[in-house]
Amino acid sequence: MSMLRTPICDLLQIEHPVFQAGMGWVARADLAAAVSAAGGLGCIGAGSTTDAEELRAEIRSVRAQTDRPFAVDILFATVASKSDEAVRYTDQVTAMVDVVFEERVPVLISGLGSPRDAVPRAKELGITVMSVVGAVRHAEKAVADGVDAVIASGSDGGGHVGSIGTAALIPAVVDAVEVPVLAGGGLADGRGLIAALSFGAQGVWMGTRFIATQEARAHDNYKQKITQTNTAGTVVTRAHSGKTCRLIRNAFTESWLGREAEIEPYPLQGMHVGHPASLKGRIEGDVENGVLPAGQSSGLIAEVPSAGDVVRRIVAEADGVLSKFMAA
Ligand SMILES: Cc1cc2nc3c(=O)[nH]c(=O)nc-3n(C[C@H](O)[C@H](O)[C@H](O)COP(=O)(O)O)c2cc1C
Repeated sequence: MSMLRTPICDLLQIEHPVFQAGMGWVARADLAAAVSAAGGLGCIGAGSTTDAEELRAEIRSVRAQTDRPFAVDILFATVASKSDEAVRYTDQVTAMVDVVFEERVPVLISGLGSPRDAVPRAKELGITVMSVVGAVRHAEKAVADGVDAVIASGSDGGGHVGSIGTAALIPAVVDAVEVPVLAGGGLADGRGLIAALSFGAQGVWMGTRFIATQEARAHDNYKQKITQTNTAGTVVTRAHSGKTCRLIRNAFTESWLGREAEIEPYPLQGMHVGHPASLKGRIEGDVENGVLPAGQSSGLIAEVPSAGDVVRRIVAEADGVLSKFMAA
């Protein structure tokens, strides 16, 4: 048996502890299916706006391509509520969660917000629930909400980030909670997987690495831009959504420097600025004026292979690192 196999692999019945991050728009059925077919856990990024029936079609498309387990990542947007009351999700979120339950998707992930009110039904159906967190107190809250595992993603990563770097966040979360932890943020290869395991995590959660793959639903210019971006080529800005988000530095991010006071609160900035700029970047391929979320991990990515090859390479590199340790 592979030395990389961890208890969460047994829980989820996957071969390798390599988890592809849920990424709104980018991570659709083809990417999720390719990662799962290669023995990792692929994930459909449903965001908070995907139409529920579109999500059902994506889920069925994964199933048509592989019989391996996979996940759906939803941003659990709520209608204003107090924390001690029942959580009220938006109608769209409720409809998407229902689809995940109806289709018996093996793993449900909350990329933002609390999945608390979805947990009892998920448990009845045998669905594993995980939450993405960026701070120890968020991990503790997620566990109190009943999740089965937490994904700790550090500020080195792409997309929405907190302020704690991966190297401090992961071991701190591992120490704070009893459930399995996955590690994300700035990790892009087999060395990152070994680092994650050394920190006490049971697997690695990678976003940017999987954008630069053939199956990701992103314009080729975006994929190529990641391969050309070095570790210093990203910035954290609120200009995309009103929340801190790591993007590739370009004309869009530069145009907001000194205009921070004009940024609207979440979610208004996203509706007025981030959404159209995201379409420009991810779909039209305008890498200067569009929004291109990516992690510092961009500096470790030089090619756009198939997602299955990425999974196989990560595992081979990690095995190579372990063999070096054993030989020493
Ligand atoms: C384009 C993009 C979109 C993202 N969208 C989501 C999302 O919808 N839900 C979520 O949980 N995380 C999202 N993330 C964050 C990832 O889950 C993950 O934390 C991050 O990509 C890890 O860092 P890395 O990019 O260096 O691998 C997104 C990241 C990127 C780059």
